[in-house]
Amino acid sequence: MPKDWYEWHDLYDTEPKLQQRLEIVQEYIAYSLNASPSGTIRVVSVCAGDGRDLLGTLKNHSRAKDVSARLVEINSNLVERGRATIESLGLAKQIEFINGDATLATNYVGAIPVDIVIVCGVFGNLADEAELNRLLDNLSFLSKPGAFVIWTRGDSNGITYSDNVRKILSASGFEEVNFKLTATGDMGVGLNRYRGENLAAPKEQQLFVFSGIPSKAR
Ligand SMILES: C[S@@+](CC[C@H](N)C(=O)[O-])C[C@H]1O[C@@H](n2cnc3c(N)ncnc32)[C@H](O)[C@@H]1O
Repeated sequence: MPKDWYEWHDLYDTEPKLQQRLEIVQEYIAYSLNASPSGTIRVVSVCAGDGRDLLGTLKNHSRAKDVSARLVEINSNLVERGRATIESLGLAKQIEFINGDATLATNYVGAIPVDIVIVCGVFGNLADEAELNRLLDNLSFLSKPGAFVIWTRGDSNGITYSDNVRKILSASGFEEVNFKLTATGDMGVGLNRYRGENLAAPKEQQLFVFSGIPSKAR
């Protein structure tokens, strides 16, 4: 069992579920970049980990130089690793890795509204459905109309939590573009588009509460 979120990332080396999840997330990021009009593509990653999903995609993507991104992550060791990757890719001028609280609206000011929101490993770490609805509501502050939203949600004990997320997203104005389960069958990865308006100011400063713990990550 990982004792912290830094250690949790080691599971990417051994767990097929996470490896397959990453592959699909990167496929969706590449799709979203390809579908974006010419010019700057703004991206935020909420609770970014070490940023391997976005950075691993940009490594081989023709639109990499168009991306202007802000990644927000609270674990300083993960941020340090992500920053080293950004340097090694030569993307330091366009990708900011903030060591801060991704639940606070202030940490996105200056980087939004965006074309692509990456919110992976978050929905399973919210207390309940009300908290998910609150976060989705607040995504209208981060997103341009038409923004792509890439998300993950694990299923467990025969409960298809990811199906519930799909229903809630569709009902909240996030049109489904794609959805896949990992080959392991227990992790959903979705690509949706925000069809509402951008909100110039957040409804509340606290966008959501992240209540998950690494030993029980979903
Ligand atoms: C399940 S991991 C997902 C990481 C990454 N998005 C991925 O999919 O590989 C959840 C991440 O959220 C981060 N986190 C937890 N609470 C946070 C907060 N309040 N602000 C920013 N990051 C947070 C953790 O440190 C951890 O890296």
